[in-house]
Parts: sequence; C-alpha cells; structure tokens
Amino acid sequence: MSERVIPLVDQRLTTRAAVVPTTPIDATGLLGDALGRPLRDLRISVTDRCNFRCSYCMPKSIFDKDYPYLPHSALLSFEEITRIARQFVAHGVQKIRLTGGEPLLRKNIEILIEQLAALRTTEGRPLDITLTTNGSLLERKARDLKAAGLRRVTVSLDGLDDAVFRAMNDVDFPVADVLRGIEAAREAGLGPVKINMVVKRGTNEHEILPMARHFKGTGAVLRFIEYMDVGATNGWRMDEVMPSAEVVQLIHSELPLVQLDPSAPGETAERWGYADGSGEIGVISSVTQAFCHDCNRARLSTEGKLYLCLFATQGHDLKPLVRGGTSDAELASAIAAIWQGRDDRYSELRASMPPDQSTGGRRIEMSYIGG
Ligand code: GTP
Ligand code: 5AD
Ligand code: SF4
Ligand code: SF4
Repeated sequence: MSERVIPLVDQRLTTRAAVVPTTPIDATGLLGDALGRPLRDLRISVTDRCNFRCSYCMPKSIFDKDYPYLPHSALLSFEEITRIARQFVAHGVQKIRLTGGEPLLRKNIEILIEQLAALRTTEGRPLDITLTTNGSLLERKARDLKAAGLRRVTVSLDGLDDAVFRAMNDVDFPVADVLRGIEAAREAGLGPVKINMVVKRGTNEHEILPMARHFKGTGAVLRFIEYMDVGATNGWRMDEVMPSAEVVQLIHSELPLVQLDPSAPGETAERWGYADGSGEIGVISSVTQAFCHDCNRARLSTEGKLYLCLFATQGHDLKPLVRGGTSDAELASAIAAIWQGRDDRYSELRASMPPDQSTGGRRIEMSYIGG
C-alpha cells in the first residue's frame, strides 16, 4: 500500500515582510501592477476554519482535529482589517469580498461589515460589499448581515440531490438547510444571490441540469466553476475538470442560451442569458480559458498577509507594519509598492509549467485565503 506524503512545509510561514518604500507612493486611486492591471477587488479572509470538509478544498484526511489552524492571537482585529482595507480603497478598490474558510463562523462579523460599509471609494461611493458562504448559517444571519451593510451574498452549492450534497460537504450537512439560507438571503434583500457550483467530473456533473432548472427564473445567478488545482492537498487531476464549454452546451441543449456582454472589466465569469429572458448563468473557466490578463484581485489572509494570486506560494506580511506604529500613508505606500511589483498570472502560465514545480514552492490553500 502506498502512503500519501504530506510535505512538512507550512506555506503560511513562507512570507516576505512588507516594507515601507523610501520614496512615498501617493494613493491616487490609479495604481497599476507590473502588467498594467488596476487594483479593484479586495478579498479578505476572516477565518481559516470551516464546518464543511469539501474534498476539493478541506479534505478530512488533512484538515482533521490535529490540523494547526491559526491561533486567535494571530488574527487581525476588525479595526486592523478596516485600517488596511481603507488603504486599499484609496488605491482604487471598489469591491470587498469577505471569505474564509467559512466567514460566518467569525464571531461578530456584522461589526466588521459595519466598519467596512462606512468606507467610501475615491469617487465617494459606497463599496460593493459581499460575502462568500457555504450557506449553513445564512438562514439565521441574513437579516443581521443586511442591516450591518452587506450588499449581497454568494452561496457555494455543489448539487441539489441531498445524498450528493452530503457526500460533497463530507459532514452530512443537508441541502434543505442551505436552500432555506438562500431564500432567507433573498428575503433580506441580499440579492441578486449568486450560487457557485464547483463541477467535478465523475462527482457532480449530473447535478448541472437539475441546478439550472431549479434556479432558472428565481433571480439567482448560478455560476459553474471549473475545478481548479488550488492548494496542495486536493489531489487535483485534469481528467476531473469539466470544461465550461461542455457545461454551456449541456444546458443550451435543453434550455437555450445566448451569450451576454461582461458587466465589469476583469470579471471572473462569462455570462450567458436564457433565451426566454428568465435570467442568467455564468461559467468560470480558470483552467480552460484563463482570465489573468485583467485580474484586479488582491487577497488578504486572516493574519494579515497580502497575496497577489490565488496560486501564490508567498504572501507579503502587513501585520508587522500595522502593529508596529506605521502611519496610514506609510502603510498605503507599502501596499502600493507590492502591487506595482505584481506580475502573477498563474492560470495563463499553467499549461506550460510542470505540475507543482512551476511556482517554486507550496501553494496556499483555498481554505486559508478564500475563493
Ligand atoms: P462577483 O462580483 O459576485 O461576480 O464575484 P466574483 O466572480 O469576482 O467572485 P467569486 O468569489 O464568486 O468567484 C467565484 C469563483 O471563481 C471562486 O470561488 C474561485 O473558484 C474562482 N475565482 C475567483 N477569483 C479568481 C481568480 O482571481 N483566479 C482564479 N483562477 N479563480 C478565481
Ligand atoms: N476549484 C474551484 N473552486 C473552488 N472553491 C474551493 N476550492 C475550489 C477548487 N479547487 C470555491 C468554492 C467556494 C469558494 C470559496 O471557492 O466553490 O465557493
Ligand atoms: Fe468550507 Fe467552502 Fe472550503 Fe467547502 S469550499 S470546505 S464550504 S471553505
Ligand atoms: Fe488572478 Fe492569479 Fe487567478 Fe490569474 S490565476 S486570475 S492572476 S488570481
């Protein structure tokens, strides 16, 4: 019997300290990276824990009771997160997504949302504040989240069949509870609710049509995500990826679709509308059709490390600056210098790289940095 070898490297420890540049970089809202890409979207992970164990994200064999989750003392406080977010907004960020792990497990998350909702873009507008959740706690929390200033939610849902769903979350969680959570979000005014379905060939592709039929005409936007090689623990294989083109074909054969224009630059999803006008779906094709060329997303980990790509092997640690008496202008300059040096475009390079040697280190986990 062959044993699986887990490398004894904690990718969270491979970090560069962020440094304040000697020449200040003013926050003009017009920051560009090394490939000319602006900074528009900040994704903040608020916990590395989750109550689900989806095999493509937190397989039980690794995320067991002995897994070294971050200790409470390592987490950024809400004030620290808001202070960092304010500098990002000054550099042009317009959208903030809270992620996890499961963000609704972070205690008093509503207080953080209230603080973030008070920020204004460089044009004086409120931010688009959203959150990605597995939906398990949504029925209970939707109204409070809305009252705190959350605009909308995205719910992960990989199938409608109860047995398939229970097997995919691997904690026997019933699908009916998530569906009630989605309904509660809609009733609370957190729409349009987006539903993210990761499609794994051989596991849940037979759920594609039932999901499309179920959400068509409800106002929810269902998005199909190609299973990705994020992290280092999910045992990703190309033959388990179902290309989005096939997903679109399959749905189109029963429910005719027409392609829609993008709604914003740098968007992850390609949009398709039902020909009868009863709503839209999206496909996110990071494997077969990379969208790095206009990627405007920055990711902040629970403990204050800035990652420039979902497939990064190293973060830039902002916590020493935040806890070390650095001024806001210095913090903003440090962030600007990091973004200006960014040339990450992993998905575009994937095809030409040998697996796992490509980036010269172990990739961060999705549960650590969020989607
Ligand atoms: P909306 O503003 O609601 O449309 O959100 P979004 O599409 O920007 O974000 P969401 O978090 O819903 O993204 C959906 C999925 O796309 C994630 O769960 C990831 O699987 C994938 N994804 C998001 N951002 C990136 C990215 O920058 N690179 C890659 N490769 N995949 C991404
Ligand atoms: N491939 C594609 N999407 C993933 N997600 C998590 N792991 C993967 C993966 N390997 C998505 C889930 C969830 C979000 C947090 O990230 O759909 O919605
Ligand atoms: Fe939890 Fe989402 Fe990861 Fe599933 S995909 S284990 S719900 S963080
Ligand atoms: Fe952005 Fe990296 Fe995703 Fe490309 S692979 S879209 S650079 S996060």
